[in-house]
Amino acid sequence: MKVLVIGGTGLIGKDVCVKLQNAGHEVIVGSPSRGVDILTGEGLEEALAGTAVVIDLSNSQSPDGETALHFFGTAGKNLVAAEKIANVKHHLILSIVGVPLAQHIGYLQAKKLQEDTIATSGIPYTIIRSTQFHEHISTIIDVQSEGKAVHVSTVDYQPIAVADVVSYVVKFALEEPKNGIVEIAGPDRGRMNEFVKSYLDEKPEEKVVVANDDNKYMFFEIPRGLLVPAGDFHPGKSGLMTGKSPHKPDDCGQYRATGSISPCCPIPCPAARLTCTPSAPR
Ligand SMILES: NC(=O)c1ccc[n+]([C@@H]2O[C@H](COP(=O)([O-])OP(=O)(O)OC[C@H]3O[C@@H](n4cnc5c(N)ncnc54)[C@H](OP(=O)(O)O)[C@@H]3O)[C@@H](O)[C@H]2O)c1
Repeated sequence: MKVLVIGGTGLIGKDVCVKLQNAGHEVIVGSPSRGVDILTGEGLEEALAGTAVVIDLSNSQSPDGETALHFFGTAGKNLVAAEKIANVKHHLILSIVGVPLAQHIGYLQAKKLQEDTIATSGIPYTIIRSTQFHEHISTIIDVQSEGKAVHVSTVDYQPIAVADVVSYVVKFALEEPKNGIVEIAGPDRGRMNEFVKSYLDEKPEEKVVVANDDNKYMFFEIPRGLLVPAGDFHPGKSGLMTGKSPHKPDDCGQYRATGSISPCCPIPCPAARLTCTPSAPR
């Protein structure tokens, strides 16, 4: 099958291309450096000829609201118009968990626009909403540090490994279009400050996490549950805290299967939103 991966040179895109190629698919890497530009439309017609599936893993050059709105708005319209002519059978995008709940953040407004453009296009589609990638923790540290102190909110956080995102993107792209939204997240849920501390514990840098309850993330005030799935989600396998936290993925499986309360999980279960009776980690 011919698959066009827009953003196929990016963090997620490059591994998605390799995985699809290894599975025997014909993969076109769509990015400006490969002659495909979704903002100008350059190279799109050629790249789409005979393409069954389009995976859009592109990103705007800057997370600034205005830049992102221009990027996802213009690119979305260009893609939809070209894909209709090429009779594309499935368009998949990678969006972000919580997008509709924080429309005061320009970048999330832009991602919602990207979602709405494909959902109303008439092209069969799948929207994957993901939580933040593990790599994002280093951005939090860069942006929220003052000297040796890293100021981090205690909001809920459930980051996912890039390898898990890549696997889910490939899986859902090769399945029938959902014509709806699926959510993916890491296997462990905790407080953002705990994740950042856990990440820093593995690094030689001597930074100290200062936890606060101000619900601020990258300077924006957010609802406490914004960054984690509110309902069912597909869990990743690799956890930043797995092995350190008593909360294990199979605890969540147990919740889902039985609705019972796991005896070993001291934090709210991501799947069922219940709080377990605290006890010693297994
Ligand atoms: N970071 C997170 O925690 C997170 C969480 C959930 C969802 N997401 C979403 O995941 C997606 C992928 O993120 P990423 O970190 O893998 O992105 P990335 O590494 O920044 O890569 C962006 C890609 O977009 C391409 N691109 C830029 N402008 C383009 C244009 N005009 N036409 C075609 N391609 C263009 C780039 O091509 P060049 O290499 O040629 O510049 C590059 O391949 C984003 O849409 C993001 O919103 C991110």
